[in-house]
Amino acid sequence: MAFNNDFRDKLKKYGQEQLLHFENTLDEKQKEKLHGQLQAIDWEYMDSLIRDFVLQKRETEIPHDLQAPFIFRCIPENEKQAGYYREAVKEGVRLISGGKVAVLTVAGGQGTRLGYDGPKGKFPITPINGKPLFRYSAEKLVRAGRKYSTSLKWFIMTSDANDRETKEFFKENNYFGLKSAQVVFFTQGMMPAVDYSGKILMESEDSLALSPNGHGGTLLALRDCGCLDKMKADGVDHISYFQIDNPLVSPLNPLFIGLHCLENSDMSSMSLAKTGPYEKLGNFCISDGKMQIIEYSDMPAELAEKRKEDGRLLFEAGSPAIHIFRLDFIQRLTKDGKLKLPWHRADKKVAFVDEKGSLLKPEKPNAVKLETFIFDALPFAQNPMILEGKRELEFSPVKNPEGVDSVVSCRRMLIDKDAAMMEKAGVKIPRNADGAISCKIELSPLSFLDVEDVVEYFKTAKVPELEKGKEYYFE
Ligand code: UTP
Repeated sequence: MAFNNDFRDKLKKYGQEQLLHFENTLDEKQKEKLHGQLQAIDWEYMDSLIRDFVLQKRETEIPHDLQAPFIFRCIPENEKQAGYYREAVKEGVRLISGGKVAVLTVAGGQGTRLGYDGPKGKFPITPINGKPLFRYSAEKLVRAGRKYSTSLKWFIMTSDANDRETKEFFKENNYFGLKSAQVVFFTQGMMPAVDYSGKILMESEDSLALSPNGHGGTLLALRDCGCLDKMKADGVDHISYFQIDNPLVSPLNPLFIGLHCLENSDMSSMSLAKTGPYEKLGNFCISDGKMQIIEYSDMPAELAEKRKEDGRLLFEAGSPAIHIFRLDFIQRLTKDGKLKLPWHRADKKVAFVDEKGSLLKPEKPNAVKLETFIFDALPFAQNPMILEGKRELEFSPVKNPEGVDSVVSCRRMLIDKDAAMMEKAGVKIPRNADGAISCKIELSPLSFLDVEDVVEYFKTAKVPELEKGKEYYFE
């Protein structure tokens, strides 16, 4: 196989002929691989992205008319709303039990900050048994399936960076108690990394330096891999979305799903009250009547710090990346096979081969990776609904080994959540003088999906008095 002259001319036209530098040294299989990668690129579009996002740093335009959106509070604000929430919970349960809701998890990222060698979902997270993130979520779905008498489908997005290893992990572990047919893997698209002079980098002589195209890639990938059609054929109407690195999340929250449906929302979002104006969560805002998320780093200081009369931040609703989508909304967005969500630039250290074929590993950022974000679908959504969640019940992302949003903080929050549910069930939890829990606790999601399950179990279970410094695992 050889690249024809038209193709060579095309690369030359866009200043990317370096990508064929090793062509003559490659065997047929290697050539085929490189050829496939190069053919898959829309060169005119790629060139415009390089000019807009790499050769210049495009300023994000912040609209002048930003307003705070309406949010449903986690605790209803009056009796009328309390009644509405009860109705929503019923609706949510009806939809889940009726097989109308599929679960979608994105797990295609590279987990660079965590520095873990392998798919992030394999990372052992639980405080006593070290259950991996994938197992922990899978067990919640096993329990949810039993609780709601339904066979849930779990769609997991991987990327070329981790697809094979993820699938093997599920197979080796018998799908963690789910049936293999319940778990559907699909892969997202990849984007080339580009150096600061606008040249696409190569990670080896026969491959571009490619990385996943961001969780915004989920929507088109669902379509392209036939998952939307599968869901439709299964009678699914709504999709409950979360990220694999947030083990605290309720994968199927009846109140959230019910409100989403009753509000006739295309795309609903959970929000958290931000801990301060600069917490690293995207801000829910309304502009020109449309919902959008403005990244924390783009929010002008005077808006980020603005407070209401009651002292709360005006833009207090931060996004933990938990959503519900209407299936027909995603179908509508992706129907012609194109979805142009805005691109976001990230400066990264990207290893690459130089002209001599030596692999170089830079110590500081040398290239731009381009990603799209799923929350940029919000402005297209009709009636987008926001429900405030309780942070301690919904969100503890595993981004770093320690510090903020880390393995350490997440393990502590997993213990706190389980302990709080046990306290609600009347179990006495040992605490230090400062209030911190002084033993380790882990509840298996196979039996304990929510506080209802915990209260039910501990009503009759004979539990020894919990002691400081000990470990307690309940299954
Ligand atoms: P993040 O970008 O926050 O985390 O993605 P990451 O990719 O795991 O780690 P870093 O940024 O390299 O340190 C949040 C969630 O979105 C998924 C991730 O797998 C994670 O669950 N994701 C991210 C994708 O599925 N695809 C992507 O292209 C990017």
